[in-house]
Amino acid sequence: MKTGIFKPLIVVSILLVSWCHAAKYTYLTKEKSLYWACFDALSPYKFTNDVGRVYAPNCQPTQNRFLSWVICNFENQEPENLNKTLELVIKRCELSKPFVNHTVEDLYGIYEKAIPTAIDVENNPSFNASVSLTSPIIAPKKKVQRFARAYYGRAKSQRHSKLYGGAIFIYFAGCLLIGGIVTWSKRLCPKLIQKLVGPKVNMFRRMFTMPPVNSKHTQILKWKKLILGIIPTRAQTYVLFGYFALNIILSCVGYDIFTDNFFTARKHQVASQTADLVQYRTGVIAIIHTPAVFLMSGRNNLLLYLTGWSYETFLVYHKWLARGMWIHALVHSSCYTWLEIDYLADFWEYEYWRWGVAATISGAFLLFFASGYFRIRWYETFKTIHVWLSALYIAGLWLHLRKFDGLWMEYVYSAIGVWSADHFFRLCRLLWFGIFTKAECQLFQDDQTIKIKVPRPSSWKPFPGAFVYIYFMRPYGFWQSHPFTILAHDNDSDGKYIYMYVKVKGGLTKSLANALNNTSSKKKSIYVLVEGPYGFEAPMKNYSNSLIITGGNGVPTGFSTYDALTKPLRESSTDTVKWIWIIRDTSPLKWFEQELLGLEDRLGEIDIYVTQSQQISEFEPLTSESASTSSSAGKNDSENKIEVEGSSHDFTKPLARFPKIKFYFGRPNLDTLLVEELQSATGSTAILCCGPGKMNDEVRKIVANNLNSTASRVDYFEDAQIW
Ligand SMILES: Cc1cc2nc3c(=O)[nH]c(=O)nc-3n(C[C@H](O)[C@H](O)[C@H](O)COP(=O)(O)OP(=O)(O)OC[C@H]3O[C@@H](n4cnc5c(N)ncnc54)[C@H](O)[C@@H]3O)c2cc1C
Ligand SMILES: *[C@@H]1O[C@H](CO)[C@@H](O)[C@H](O)[C@H]1NC(C)=O
Ligand SMILES: *[C@@H]1O[C@H](CO)[C@@H](O)[C@H](O)[C@H]1NC(C)=O
Ligand SMILES: *[C@@H]1O[C@H](CO)[C@@H](O)[C@H](O)[C@H]1NC(C)=O
Ligand SMILES: *[C@@H]1O[C@H](CO)[C@@H](O)[C@H](O)[C@H]1NC(C)=O
Ligand SMILES: *[C@@H]1O[C@H](CO)[C@@H](O)[C@H](O)[C@H]1NC(C)=O
Ligand SMILES: *[C@@H]1O[C@H](CO)[C@@H](O)[C@H](O)[C@H]1NC(C)=O
Ligand SMILES: *[C@@H]1O[C@H](CO)[C@@H](O)[C@H](O)[C@H]1NC(C)=O
Ligand SMILES: *[C@@H]1O[C@H](CO)[C@@H](O)[C@H](O)[C@H]1NC(C)=O
Ligand SMILES: *[C@@H]1O[C@H](CO)[C@@H](O)[C@H](O)[C@H]1NC(C)=O
Repeated sequence: MKTGIFKPLIVVSILLVSWCHAAKYTYLTKEKSLYWACFDALSPYKFTNDVGRVYAPNCQPTQNRFLSWVICNFENQEPENLNKTLELVIKRCELSKPFVNHTVEDLYGIYEKAIPTAIDVENNPSFNASVSLTSPIIAPKKKVQRFARAYYGRAKSQRHSKLYGGAIFIYFAGCLLIGGIVTWSKRLCPKLIQKLVGPKVNMFRRMFTMPPVNSKHTQILKWKKLILGIIPTRAQTYVLFGYFALNIILSCVGYDIFTDNFFTARKHQVASQTADLVQYRTGVIAIIHTPAVFLMSGRNNLLLYLTGWSYETFLVYHKWLARGMWIHALVHSSCYTWLEIDYLADFWEYEYWRWGVAATISGAFLLFFASGYFRIRWYETFKTIHVWLSALYIAGLWLHLRKFDGLWMEYVYSAIGVWSADHFFRLCRLLWFGIFTKAECQLFQDDQTIKIKVPRPSSWKPFPGAFVYIYFMRPYGFWQSHPFTILAHDNDSDGKYIYMYVKVKGGLTKSLANALNNTSSKKKSIYVLVEGPYGFEAPMKNYSNSLIITGGNGVPTGFSTYDALTKPLRESSTDTVKWIWIIRDTSPLKWFEQELLGLEDRLGEIDIYVTQSQQISEFEPLTSESASTSSSAGKNDSENKIEVEGSSHDFTKPLARFPKIKFYFGRPNLDTLLVEELQSATGSTAILCCGPGKMNDEVRKIVANNLNSTASRVDYFEDAQIW
């Protein structure tokens, strides 16, 4: 984890730049709001000698619109702001054709001369607004003030929108901080955490933090065979609930909305004003989301190390933040579209409009193709589409925001920076492990598992629960990186290796299996790239009792943890370590035989449950000489003893190769098993579960419901192999 040290610096500096660079954002001040309000207040009137535009009138002193504009500024501005405004007027006159260069003194003179001839629109009952005016007017003050209020209210809302967007991430940072404190305190001061026990604490944990939302977490939620996705844990759900509540509140508050605002020309004035304010706010909040969403998707992101949370947890937040971001973008786009609905044809001419539309649409497709349905079925397709669409999204955002002369761009830059930094560190990790590494792959046909053995550099240290991404340098799939949990035992005579046990699925692993199947020995050396190690070690060491439950190919974590925990165990130690491995049949023992044998002399307990016992007879020992040393310990310990109907074959013989391991046949009753374990425990207990989603969820629920079974602290750790 050496690379972990540079990473923080880069990422932090990028984020700091994005947050601190607020100076160039200037919004309308009170006097500028009035200055613009004067234009708007005069816009409904027609003057006989009108040339030039409403917002850039001809500045000849004979022009009635110009005179009315000057009068309006004089009449409405605060005296201390007047000279500043007049300078704006002079500046604006540069746009006038022909150009007239006034001075502030000139304008004072012009005002003095014009005011006696001006019609006071408000106090003149005979005034007819639809005739062409032959003299300057004094624009209705109430109207000017209302317009100014609309301008200023909008500016205020704009000025605060960064704050509102920032508040969401301050909230998130708070959640990360609390989460970080909880996870790190489990690691750094386990004694303190282990004092947090008792019915009240247990009650709280059972109700609020431990269980999945509705019995499912790592299990994929399905509805009539339709894959819906992965459900966050309860704690994650609270964080997300707060996030969404905050988003809704902060998108709705702090607007100054009133009738007779500057959208008077429109049918739905109030709605227009609301849409205008909301589109800005939501647009800003969406932009502020961007770096955070990118950051959370990174394999190397700094937050992983600060919080000690798993990558899987960050992917949960990545998904939901991305959804939040897109909703803001959609609201922004919809409001803006509605505002400009009458001019849409013209807007397609504008680059920023086209790219804004492109970004919103690509965001929609991003979310659609990232839904559980696609992600779980066609992972590689999802990933490819995801990369391209997010590139399109960020490019769209870039070109959309270019209109604002670099305003808001720091968020785009930092999103790109975060992404690049992550990929840079991924590359560093690849190089650290070394290129031109040859992996020995062996296919075990019985239960479709490929055992991969890769030599590792000595500076590269694996740890229990670590996983790597592996790239197979084969014509098919060299661009794919698949995560696999690794295992290391430093027992090999000829160097140091890491091992992976890959269950053959439908994609790359299938193609690999086919290639191996074609060889006579079912073995092959393949060039691989290895990116890692990632993940965290569950802090099991500091608990008196450890219970490890693994299922099927989740075994590497169980093995490494058991290995690490039992190494220091002596006859005198009071700590207990128990490892339960649940397998369907005995074929995994073929690819895991050496590893299990390596643990023979340990003082822990290994229980293996074989759930489909009729498969046992298929097991043949790899090396037959030791099979005869039949010490049948454990065979009789089973509560679920197997009945082999009419079989003369002594199926237990091969299992006798593992005299220290207890074999049970049939499905374990996890509920009673865990309760018994907790009841018999003296001191704190840590439970680590890494198996199929269904098993993880079940164990999580059982643990949450049985915290009362012991007076000491019980903690649950999970190693999910899905995201
Ligand atoms: C942290 C972690 C550790 C894992 N450890 C192991 C292990 O030790 N042994 C083992 O057999 N399996 C492990 N897996 C699962 C393994 O990554 C997938 O089974 C494998 O990538 C499937 O490849 P495929 O192309 O054959 O799959 P497909 O048949 O295309 O897909 C099968 C399933 O695997 C998931 N998947 C596919 N590709 C990826 C990917 N690149 N990243 C994440 N998920 C993917 C899909 O969502 C799908 O549900 C682990 C997964 C994770 C996330
Ligand atoms: C504004 O400018 C005029 C003319 O230059 C000057 O007389 C007056 O003092 C100025 N007022 C303020 C508040 O500076
Ligand atoms: C207008 O006049 C002022 C001073 O009289 C001068 O400083 C300024 O440059 C002139 N502006 C233009 C655009 O010529
Ligand atoms: C205002 O002027 C228009 C056009 O000159 C005329 O049609 C209209 O009747 C006048 N309205 C009033 C109230 O005088
Ligand atoms: C744990 O004990 C407390 C207090 O006795 C009780 O309220 C709670 O329901 C118990 N929880 C379980 C899961 O039994
Ligand atoms: C495996 O062998 C078969 C024929 O024996 C051949 O058709 C197929 O292409 C081979 N597959 C690979 C991946 O080499
Ligand atoms: C391997 O090849 C054999 C025949 O050679 C075939 O029966 C078996 O299904 C193949 N296994 C896989 C995983 O392709
Ligand atoms: C936790 O356990 C490890 C390994 O046994 C030990 O080195 C460390 O001191 C323990 N930490 C605390 C705070 O007890
Ligand atoms: C591990 O090393 C010990 C001692 O060197 C040896 O007895 C044992 O057989 C080895 N185990 C494996 C799996 O290589
Ligand atoms: C297993 O238990 C049965 C009775 O429960 C006993 O008769 C038998 O001898 C035991 N076998 C071994 C190998 O201990």
